[in-house]
Amino acid sequence: MVCMSVEHTPVLLNEALELLDVRPGGLYVDCTVGLGGHAEAILERLGGQGQFLGIDRDQAALDRARERLNRFRNLELYHSNFKNLPLIMSRLSRETIDGCLIDLGVSSMQLTSADRGFSLRETGPLDMRMDLDQKITASQLLHQLNEDQLTDLFRRYGEEPSARKIAAAIVVERRVRRLQTTRDLAELVERVKGRRPGSRIHPATQVFQALRIEVNQELSGLEEFLEAVIQRLSPGGRLVVVSFHSLEDRVVKQLFQKQAGRCICFRPGDACICPRQERVRILTKKPVVPSAQEIGANPRSRSAKLRAVEKIGV
Ligand SMILES: C[S@@+](CC[C@H](N)C(=O)[O-])C[C@H]1O[C@@H](n2cnc3c(N)ncnc32)[C@H](O)[C@@H]1O
Repeated sequence: MVCMSVEHTPVLLNEALELLDVRPGGLYVDCTVGLGGHAEAILERLGGQGQFLGIDRDQAALDRARERLNRFRNLELYHSNFKNLPLIMSRLSRETIDGCLIDLGVSSMQLTSADRGFSLRETGPLDMRMDLDQKITASQLLHQLNEDQLTDLFRRYGEEPSARKIAAAIVVERRVRRLQTTRDLAELVERVKGRRPGSRIHPATQVFQALRIEVNQELSGLEEFLEAVIQRLSPGGRLVVVSFHSLEDRVVKQLFQKQAGRCICFRPGDACICPRQERVRILTKKPVVPSAQEIGANPRSRSAKLRAVEKIGV
């Protein structure tokens, strides 16, 4: 039986498992093990055979996962950025992966722990580092970037229409005091943008998203990493990715199309510069999204999109 964590409900669990098609004896990697919800279900399907690698850059999450998964013997957990997977793999006797899950974003535990500084609703230090060994916090970023850089950040990673106004207000505010807490920033953005009557979404949501992406360099190297995973998949091996915002989903979608040999440059005929090499088969023509029932039970799942591919070859 799959035990649901009280602090993070795995999103699209059944859909992810079905697409991962776990086969006993294989090597499966969960690149974002979090509190181990998906991992536990994968390990149960592995049935004590094969091998499981779990990675997370958040030591606190990994400690919880270790506790939850301690009844399984065929697993190794690594505190690392998943971009180090090729390095981790180089220490193993196996060269190929039979299935890989990447459940991007933050866990509910990270979101609701005030001291981690991810949440708009909890007052805490404006931190947002997934890995506490990282050097730069969100507060430091707000004080280091100039107005143009802040504007660009809020536009690029938050798609925030009031980016310029918010950046200007931050620059004025930081002359008189440090923006140190989540509340300092949330209130400043609310003052600049106001609140839409009746809206349950906080006006600072996009600014928080942009800062989190930048602090954790969430998009940098994602495409290259997905490519590296596909390279290491065994024939018939599967990669399943769950993303939570359109910027991530766009990277995943385009990379999958490129790896499936499709054109993503949209230049006509001979002018096309895409490699057109078919390395994978796309298993999800449209992204899989949570049912109304799942969203009702776990509102944080509402923006999830799942895409999956299978490696071609014999
Ligand atoms: C949505 S949660 C995963 C939840 C997990 N599937 C479960 O069922 O409990 C995302 C996790 O990915 C981790 N994470 C995000 N980016 C990462 C990266 N580049 N390398 C390693 N871990 C990362 C976060 O620290 C977080 O714990």
